[in-house]
Amino acid sequence: MLDIKSFIAGRVSLMESSEIREILELTEGKNVISLAGGLPDPKYFPTEELAEISSYVLKEYGWRALQYSVTRGLREFREEIARFMERTGTPGEMPYNIIVTSGSQQALNLLAQVLVNPGDIVAVEKPTYLAAINEFKAVGASFEGIPVDDEGMRVDLLEERLKILKAEGKRIKFVYTVPTAQNPSGVSMSNDRRSHLLELAEEYDFLIIEDDPYSHFMFEEVNFKRLRSMDKYRVIYTSTFSKILSPGLRLGWVAAHPDVIDALEIAKQNADLHTPTFNQLLAAEALRRGVVDKHIPRVKEAYKRKRDVMLEALSEHMDGLARWTRPVGGMFIFAYLDENIDTKEMLPEALSAGVAYVPGSAFYVDGSGRNTMRLNFSYPSEEMIRMGIERLAEVVKRYATSSV
Ligand SMILES: Cc1ncc(COP(=O)(O)O)c(C=O)c1O
Repeated sequence: MLDIKSFIAGRVSLMESSEIREILELTEGKNVISLAGGLPDPKYFPTEELAEISSYVLKEYGWRALQYSVTRGLREFREEIARFMERTGTPGEMPYNIIVTSGSQQALNLLAQVLVNPGDIVAVEKPTYLAAINEFKAVGASFEGIPVDDEGMRVDLLEERLKILKAEGKRIKFVYTVPTAQNPSGVSMSNDRRSHLLELAEEYDFLIIEDDPYSHFMFEEVNFKRLRSMDKYRVIYTSTFSKILSPGLRLGWVAAHPDVIDALEIAKQNADLHTPTFNQLLAAEALRRGVVDKHIPRVKEAYKRKRDVMLEALSEHMDGLARWTRPVGGMFIFAYLDENIDTKEMLPEALSAGVAYVPGSAFYVDGSGRNTMRLNFSYPSEEMIRMGIERLAEVVKRYATSSV
Protein backbone atom coordinates (compact mmCIF):
# COMPACT_ATOMS: atom_id res chain seq x y z
CA MET A 1 0.00 0.00 0.00
CA LEU A 2 1.28 3.42 -0.92
CA ASP A 3 1.84 5.52 2.20
CA ILE A 4 1.80 9.05 0.82
CA LYS A 5 2.42 10.54 4.26
CA SER A 6 5.81 8.82 4.47
CA PHE A 7 6.93 11.08 1.60
CA ILE A 8 6.17 14.31 3.46
CA ALA A 9 9.31 16.03 4.82
CA GLY A 10 9.87 16.01 8.56
CA ARG A 11 9.87 19.81 8.75
CA VAL A 12 6.15 19.89 8.01
CA SER A 13 5.58 18.59 11.53
CA LEU A 14 6.99 21.92 12.79
CA MET A 15 4.37 23.83 10.79
CA GLU A 16 1.04 24.55 12.36
CA SER A 17 -2.08 25.41 10.50
CA SER A 18 -3.70 28.61 11.67
CA GLU A 19 -6.47 28.01 14.16
CA ILE A 20 -8.25 31.04 12.77
CA ARG A 21 -8.47 29.53 9.30
CA GLU A 22 -9.87 26.34 10.78
CA ILE A 23 -12.57 28.27 12.65
CA LEU A 24 -13.41 30.25 9.52
CA GLU A 25 -13.91 26.97 7.68
CA LEU A 26 -16.18 25.67 10.45
CA THR A 27 -18.36 28.77 10.29
CA GLU A 28 -18.58 29.02 6.50
CA GLY A 29 -22.11 28.83 5.12
CA LYS A 30 -23.63 28.39 8.60
CA ASN A 31 -25.77 30.81 10.52
CA VAL A 32 -22.83 31.79 12.68
CA ILE A 33 -21.84 35.38 13.40
CA SER A 34 -18.09 35.33 13.06
CA LEU A 35 -16.17 37.55 15.42
CA ALA A 36 -13.24 35.26 14.68
CA GLY A 37 -11.65 36.40 11.43
CA GLY A 38 -9.50 39.43 10.82
CA LEU A 39 -11.00 40.57 7.56
CA PRO A 40 -11.34 44.20 6.51
CA ASP A 41 -14.89 45.36 5.77
CA PRO A 42 -15.29 44.82 2.00
CA LYS A 43 -17.93 47.56 1.86
CA TYR A 44 -15.09 50.04 1.93
CA PHE A 45 -12.83 48.51 -0.72
CA PRO A 46 -12.25 51.29 -3.32
CA THR A 47 -13.59 49.04 -6.07
CA GLU A 48 -14.54 51.72 -8.59
CA GLU A 49 -11.28 53.58 -8.30
CA LEU A 50 -9.36 50.32 -8.69
CA ALA A 51 -11.42 49.35 -11.76
CA GLU A 52 -10.46 52.62 -13.39
CA ILE A 53 -6.82 52.33 -12.39
CA SER A 54 -6.72 48.72 -13.65
CA SER A 55 -7.63 49.69 -17.18
CA TYR A 56 -5.31 52.71 -17.00
CA VAL A 57 -2.41 50.44 -15.97
CA LEU A 58 -3.07 48.02 -18.84
CA LYS A 59 -3.30 50.85 -21.37
CA GLU A 60 -0.38 52.86 -20.02
CA TYR A 61 2.08 50.01 -19.35
CA GLY A 62 0.78 47.42 -21.84
CA TRP A 63 2.85 44.21 -21.84
CA ARG A 64 5.08 45.49 -19.01
CA ALA A 65 2.18 45.13 -16.60
CA LEU A 66 1.85 41.47 -17.56
CA GLN A 67 5.52 40.54 -17.71
CA TYR A 68 7.86 39.06 -15.06
CA SER A 69 9.63 41.74 -13.06
CA VAL A 70 12.45 42.15 -10.55
CA THR A 71 12.42 40.27 -7.24
CA ARG A 72 12.79 43.39 -5.06
CA GLY A 73 9.68 44.97 -6.52
CA LEU A 74 9.28 47.68 -9.16
CA ARG A 75 11.41 50.69 -8.39
CA GLU A 76 8.55 53.12 -8.99
CA PHE A 77 6.42 51.21 -6.47
CA ARG A 78 9.22 51.17 -3.89
CA GLU A 79 9.60 54.94 -4.42
CA GLU A 80 5.88 55.43 -3.81
CA ILE A 81 6.10 53.30 -0.66
CA ALA A 82 9.02 55.42 0.61
CA ARG A 83 6.97 58.59 -0.05
CA PHE A 84 3.94 57.09 1.73
CA MET A 85 6.11 56.24 4.73
CA GLU A 86 7.56 59.76 4.68
CA ARG A 87 4.18 61.49 4.76
CA THR A 88 2.83 59.17 7.45
CA GLY A 89 5.63 59.68 9.96
CA THR A 90 8.53 57.43 8.92
CA PRO A 91 10.83 59.59 6.80
CA GLY A 92 14.21 58.76 5.32
CA GLU A 93 13.48 55.50 3.49
CA MET A 94 15.16 54.86 0.15
CA PRO A 95 14.10 52.37 -2.53
CA TYR A 96 17.20 50.28 -1.70
CA ASN A 97 15.92 49.91 1.87
CA ILE A 98 12.68 48.39 0.64
CA ILE A 99 11.59 45.03 -0.73
CA VAL A 100 8.06 44.34 -1.90
CA THR A 101 6.53 41.11 -0.61
CA SER A 102 3.37 39.12 -1.28
CA GLY A 103 1.59 40.43 1.80
CA SER A 104 3.39 41.03 5.08
CA GLN A 105 2.81 37.34 5.80
CA GLN A 106 5.46 36.58 3.20
CA ALA A 107 7.70 39.16 4.83
CA LEU A 108 7.42 37.23 8.10
CA ASN A 109 8.03 33.95 6.31
CA LEU A 110 11.16 35.27 4.57
CA LEU A 111 12.44 36.99 7.71
CA ALA A 112 12.06 33.72 9.61
CA GLN A 113 14.12 31.98 6.92
CA VAL A 114 16.91 34.53 6.75
CA LEU A 115 17.23 35.31 10.47
CA VAL A 116 16.44 32.18 12.46
CA ASN A 117 18.81 29.26 12.93
CA PRO A 118 17.25 26.30 14.73
CA GLY A 119 17.35 26.97 18.48
CA ASP A 120 17.67 30.78 18.15
CA ILE A 121 15.66 32.63 20.76
CA VAL A 122 12.98 35.01 19.57
CA ALA A 123 11.11 37.25 22.01
CA VAL A 124 7.46 37.99 21.30
CA GLU A 125 4.59 39.69 23.05
CA LYS A 126 2.25 37.51 25.06
CA PRO A 127 -0.23 37.47 23.36
CA THR A 128 1.06 38.04 19.82
CA TYR A 129 0.08 37.50 16.18
CA LEU A 130 -0.55 33.79 15.79
CA ALA A 131 0.78 33.40 12.24
CA ALA A 132 4.10 35.01 13.23
CA ILE A 133 4.49 32.39 15.97
CA ASN A 134 3.85 29.70 13.36
CA GLU A 135 6.43 31.16 10.95
CA PHE A 136 9.16 31.31 13.59
CA LYS A 137 8.27 27.88 14.97
CA ALA A 138 8.53 26.34 11.51
CA VAL A 139 12.23 27.29 11.28
CA GLY A 140 13.02 25.96 14.75
CA ALA A 141 12.95 29.12 16.90
CA SER A 142 12.51 28.86 20.63
CA PHE A 143 10.52 31.59 22.34
CA GLU A 144 10.56 34.06 25.18
CA GLY A 145 7.02 35.34 25.78
CA ILE A 146 6.87 38.83 27.28
CA PRO A 147 3.51 39.87 28.79
CA VAL A 148 1.69 43.00 27.61
CA ASP A 149 -0.36 45.47 29.64
CA ASP A 150 -2.20 48.64 28.63
CA GLU A 151 1.08 50.22 27.51
CA GLY A 152 2.11 47.29 25.33
CA MET A 153 5.04 44.94 25.89
CA ARG A 154 6.41 44.92 29.45
CA VAL A 155 9.88 45.97 28.38
CA ASP A 156 11.01 45.90 32.03
CA LEU A 157 10.24 42.16 32.11
CA LEU A 158 12.09 41.70 28.82
CA GLU A 159 15.12 43.34 30.45
CA GLU A 160 14.91 40.91 33.38
CA ARG A 161 14.85 37.97 30.99
CA LEU A 162 17.76 39.39 28.97
CA LYS A 163 19.86 39.61 32.14
CA ILE A 164 19.07 36.03 33.10
CA LEU A 165 19.74 34.74 29.59
CA LYS A 166 23.04 36.61 29.46
CA ALA A 167 24.11 35.02 32.74
CA GLU A 168 23.35 31.65 31.15
CA GLY A 169 25.46 32.57 28.11
CA LYS A 170 22.41 32.94 25.84
CA ARG A 171 21.03 35.79 23.79
CA ILE A 172 17.89 36.82 22.00
CA LYS A 173 18.25 37.07 18.21
CA PHE A 174 15.35 39.47 17.73
CA VAL A 175 12.23 40.82 19.32
CA TYR A 176 9.12 40.53 17.16
CA THR A 177 6.57 43.15 18.10
CA VAL A 178 3.32 44.60 16.80
CA PRO A 179 3.77 47.80 18.79
CA THR A 180 0.87 49.84 17.45
CA ALA A 181 -2.77 48.75 17.82
CA GLN A 182 -1.58 45.21 18.38
CA ASN A 183 -3.16 42.06 17.02
CA PRO A 184 -4.72 40.51 19.07
CA SER A 185 -4.89 42.85 22.08
CA GLY A 186 -5.44 46.25 20.46
CA VAL A 187 -2.97 47.93 22.85
CA SER A 188 -0.08 50.18 21.80
CA MET A 189 3.40 50.40 23.22
CA SER A 190 4.10 53.73 24.94
CA ASN A 191 6.92 55.88 23.53
CA ASP A 192 8.92 55.45 26.75
CA ARG A 193 8.83 51.71 26.34
CA ARG A 194 9.78 52.03 22.68
CA SER A 195 12.88 54.03 23.67
CA HIS A 196 13.68 51.51 26.37
CA LEU A 197 13.34 48.64 23.90
CA LEU A 198 15.78 50.30 21.51
CA GLU A 199 18.26 50.90 24.34
CA LEU A 200 18.07 47.22 25.24
CA ALA A 201 18.58 46.25 21.59
CA GLU A 202 21.81 48.22 21.68
CA GLU A 203 22.95 46.92 25.05
CA TYR A 204 22.13 43.25 24.42
CA ASP A 205 22.74 43.31 20.66
CA PHE A 206 19.49 42.09 19.13
CA LEU A 207 17.32 43.16 16.21
CA ILE A 208 13.69 44.24 16.31
CA ILE A 209 10.98 43.28 13.81
CA GLU A 210 8.27 45.94 13.87
CA ASP A 211 5.13 44.50 12.28
CA ASP A 212 2.83 47.40 11.56
CA PRO A 213 -0.43 46.67 9.72
CA TYR A 214 -2.74 48.76 11.91
CA SER A 215 -1.08 52.08 12.76
CA HIS A 216 -3.12 53.92 10.13
CA PHE A 217 -6.27 53.04 12.05
CA MET A 218 -5.81 54.82 15.34
CA PHE A 219 -9.11 55.93 16.88
CA GLU A 220 -7.67 58.12 19.59
CA GLU A 221 -5.04 60.82 19.54
CA VAL A 222 -2.16 58.54 20.41
CA ASN A 223 1.26 60.08 20.20
CA PHE A 224 3.34 57.17 18.97
CA LYS A 225 6.59 56.97 17.07
CA ARG A 226 7.30 54.03 14.83
CA LEU A 227 10.34 52.12 16.03
CA ARG A 228 11.67 52.29 12.48
CA SER A 229 11.63 56.10 12.62
CA MET A 230 13.76 55.91 15.78
CA ASP A 231 16.40 53.44 14.54
CA LYS A 232 17.18 52.52 10.94
CA TYR A 233 19.84 49.94 11.83
CA ARG A 234 18.31 47.53 14.28
CA VAL A 235 14.66 47.85 13.29
CA ILE A 236 13.28 45.76 10.47
CA TYR A 237 9.90 47.20 9.54
CA THR A 238 7.10 45.41 7.75
CA SER A 239 3.71 46.65 6.68
CA THR A 240 0.98 45.83 4.22
CA PHE A 241 -1.59 47.13 1.77
CA SER A 242 -4.09 44.59 3.10
CA LYS A 243 -5.78 47.01 5.46
CA ILE A 244 -5.11 50.31 3.70
CA LEU A 245 -6.20 49.15 0.22
CA SER A 246 -7.20 45.50 -0.23
CA PRO A 247 -5.93 42.17 1.17
CA GLY A 248 -6.63 40.23 -2.04
CA LEU A 249 -3.89 42.13 -3.88
CA ARG A 250 -1.35 40.47 -1.53
CA LEU A 251 0.99 43.41 -1.29
CA GLY A 252 3.30 44.06 1.61
CA TRP A 253 6.80 45.36 2.13
CA VAL A 254 9.85 45.36 4.35
CA ALA A 255 11.98 48.42 5.10
CA ALA A 256 15.33 47.41 6.58
CA HIS A 257 19.10 47.66 6.41
CA PRO A 258 20.27 46.88 2.84
CA ASP A 259 22.06 43.73 4.04
CA VAL A 260 18.76 42.35 5.34
CA ILE A 261 17.04 43.37 2.10
CA ASP A 262 19.71 41.51 0.09
CA ALA A 263 19.15 38.33 2.11
CA LEU A 264 15.37 38.66 1.75
CA GLU A 265 15.75 39.12 -2.00
CA ILE A 266 17.52 35.77 -2.34
CA ALA A 267 14.89 34.02 -0.20
CA LYS A 268 12.08 35.64 -2.16
CA GLN A 269 13.60 34.62 -5.46
CA ASN A 270 13.37 31.02 -4.28
CA ALA A 271 9.84 31.50 -3.01
CA ASP A 272 8.00 33.20 -5.87
CA LEU A 273 10.44 35.19 -8.09
CA HIS A 274 8.47 38.38 -7.48
CA THR A 275 5.18 39.86 -6.34
CA PRO A 276 2.66 40.25 -9.22
CA THR A 277 3.78 43.09 -11.49
CA PHE A 278 0.24 44.19 -12.30
CA ASN A 279 -0.71 44.52 -8.63
CA GLN A 280 2.38 46.59 -7.91
CA LEU A 281 1.60 49.00 -10.74
CA LEU A 282 -2.02 49.19 -9.56
CA ALA A 283 -1.04 50.06 -5.99
CA ALA A 284 1.67 52.50 -7.13
CA GLU A 285 -0.93 54.38 -9.18
CA ALA A 286 -3.43 54.23 -6.30
CA LEU A 287 -0.81 55.86 -4.09
CA ARG A 288 0.00 58.47 -6.75
CA ARG A 289 -3.66 59.39 -7.20
CA GLY A 290 -4.25 59.67 -3.45
CA VAL A 291 -6.68 56.73 -3.40
CA VAL A 292 -4.92 55.13 -0.41
CA ASP A 293 -4.67 58.39 1.53
CA LYS A 294 -8.38 59.08 0.96
CA HIS A 295 -9.38 55.51 1.77
CA ILE A 296 -7.70 55.42 5.19
CA PRO A 297 -9.85 58.05 7.01
CA ARG A 298 -13.10 56.51 5.70
CA VAL A 299 -12.18 53.08 6.96
CA LYS A 300 -10.83 54.46 10.20
CA GLU A 301 -14.13 56.20 10.94
CA ALA A 302 -16.10 53.02 10.20
CA TYR A 303 -13.87 50.85 12.40
CA LYS A 304 -14.01 53.36 15.25
CA ARG A 305 -17.82 53.23 15.12
CA LYS A 306 -17.75 49.45 15.12
CA ARG A 307 -15.28 49.36 18.00
CA ASP A 308 -17.61 51.60 19.99
CA VAL A 309 -20.58 49.38 19.18
CA MET A 310 -18.67 46.32 20.38
CA LEU A 311 -17.51 48.09 23.55
CA GLU A 312 -21.10 49.17 24.29
CA ALA A 313 -22.44 45.67 23.66
CA LEU A 314 -19.76 44.20 25.91
CA SER A 315 -20.66 46.63 28.74
CA GLU A 316 -24.33 45.85 28.29
CA HIS A 317 -24.09 42.05 28.16
CA MET A 318 -20.75 40.91 29.53
CA ASP A 319 -20.35 43.12 32.58
CA GLY A 320 -19.26 40.88 35.45
CA LEU A 321 -18.57 37.97 33.06
CA ALA A 322 -15.31 39.24 31.59
CA ARG A 323 -12.92 42.14 31.31
CA TRP A 324 -11.64 43.37 27.97
CA THR A 325 -9.20 45.76 26.34
CA ARG A 326 -10.28 49.13 24.99
CA PRO A 327 -8.27 49.18 21.75
CA VAL A 328 -6.87 52.52 20.62
CA GLY A 329 -6.88 51.28 17.04
CA GLY A 330 -6.86 48.26 14.78
CA MET A 331 -9.53 45.60 14.39
CA PHE A 332 -9.67 43.55 17.61
CA ILE A 333 -10.78 43.50 21.23
CA PHE A 334 -9.21 40.95 23.56
CA ALA A 335 -11.33 39.59 26.40
CA TYR A 336 -10.31 37.86 29.63
CA LEU A 337 -12.88 35.51 31.16
CA ASP A 338 -12.99 33.80 34.52
CA GLU A 339 -9.82 31.76 35.12
CA ASN A 340 -11.87 28.54 35.18
CA ILE A 341 -13.21 28.99 31.68
CA ASP A 342 -11.30 27.40 28.82
CA THR A 343 -12.39 29.29 25.71
CA LYS A 344 -11.19 26.52 23.40
CA GLU A 345 -13.41 24.00 25.16
CA MET A 346 -16.28 26.49 25.13
CA LEU A 347 -16.01 27.13 21.37
CA PRO A 348 -18.28 24.27 20.18
CA GLU A 349 -21.06 25.64 22.42
CA ALA A 350 -20.54 29.11 21.03
CA LEU A 351 -20.69 27.77 17.47
CA SER A 352 -23.96 25.96 18.22
CA ALA A 353 -25.28 29.21 19.68
CA GLY A 354 -24.32 30.95 16.42
CA VAL A 355 -21.22 32.93 17.32
CA ALA A 356 -17.50 32.38 16.69
CA TYR A 357 -14.36 33.85 18.26
CA VAL A 358 -10.70 32.86 18.33
CA PRO A 359 -9.62 31.14 21.57
CA GLY A 360 -6.85 33.30 22.99
CA SER A 361 -4.36 30.55 23.86
CA ALA A 362 -3.42 30.38 20.16
CA PHE A 363 -1.74 33.78 20.61
CA TYR A 364 0.40 32.73 23.59
CA VAL A 365 3.73 31.05 22.85
CA ASP A 366 3.58 29.18 26.15
CA GLY A 367 0.02 27.89 25.67
CA SER A 368 -1.32 30.06 28.52
CA GLY A 369 -4.20 32.51 28.06
CA ARG A 370 -6.75 29.67 28.07
CA ASN A 371 -9.41 31.96 29.52
CA THR A 372 -9.00 34.61 26.80
CA MET A 373 -10.54 35.24 23.39
CA ARG A 374 -10.05 37.58 20.43
CA LEU A 375 -13.06 39.40 19.04
CA ASN A 376 -13.00 41.09 15.64
CA PHE A 377 -15.07 44.19 14.98
CA SER A 378 -13.88 45.29 11.50
CA TYR A 379 -15.79 42.72 9.43
CA PRO A 380 -19.25 42.16 10.99
CA SER A 381 -21.91 44.83 10.60
CA GLU A 382 -22.90 46.88 13.65
CA GLU A 383 -26.07 44.81 13.96
CA MET A 384 -24.11 41.55 13.80
CA ILE A 385 -21.68 42.83 16.42
CA ARG A 386 -24.58 43.54 18.82
CA MET A 387 -26.20 40.17 18.15
CA GLY A 388 -22.89 38.34 18.31
CA ILE A 389 -21.95 39.76 21.71
CA GLU A 390 -25.44 39.07 23.05
CA ARG A 391 -25.16 35.42 21.94
CA LEU A 392 -21.65 35.18 23.35
CA ALA A 393 -22.78 36.50 26.75
CA GLU A 394 -25.49 33.83 26.90
CA VAL A 395 -22.94 31.13 26.14
CA VAL A 396 -20.49 32.41 28.77
CA LYS A 397 -23.26 32.61 31.40
CA ARG A 398 -24.40 29.06 30.67
CA TYR A 399 -20.88 27.73 30.50
CA ALA A 400 -19.78 29.47 33.71
CA THR A 401 -22.65 27.90 35.68
CA SER A 402 -22.26 24.45 34.11
CA SER A 403 -18.48 24.34 34.69
CA VAL A 404 -18.59 25.17 38.46
C1 LIG B 1 0.11 41.57 12.90
C2 LIG B 1 -0.10 41.06 11.52
N1 LIG B 1 0.97 40.83 10.74
C3 LIG B 1 0.83 40.37 9.49
C4 LIG B 1 -0.40 40.12 8.95
C5 LIG B 1 -0.47 39.57 7.55
O1 LIG B 1 -1.12 40.41 6.69
P1 LIG B 1 -0.96 40.37 5.10
O2 LIG B 1 -0.23 39.13 4.73
O3 LIG B 1 -2.36 40.38 4.60
O4 LIG B 1 -0.20 41.59 4.75
C6 LIG B 1 -1.55 40.35 9.71
C7 LIG B 1 -2.89 40.05 9.16
O5 LIG B 1 -3.89 40.09 9.77
C8 LIG B 1 -1.39 40.83 11.04
O6 LIG B 1 -2.43 41.05 11.84
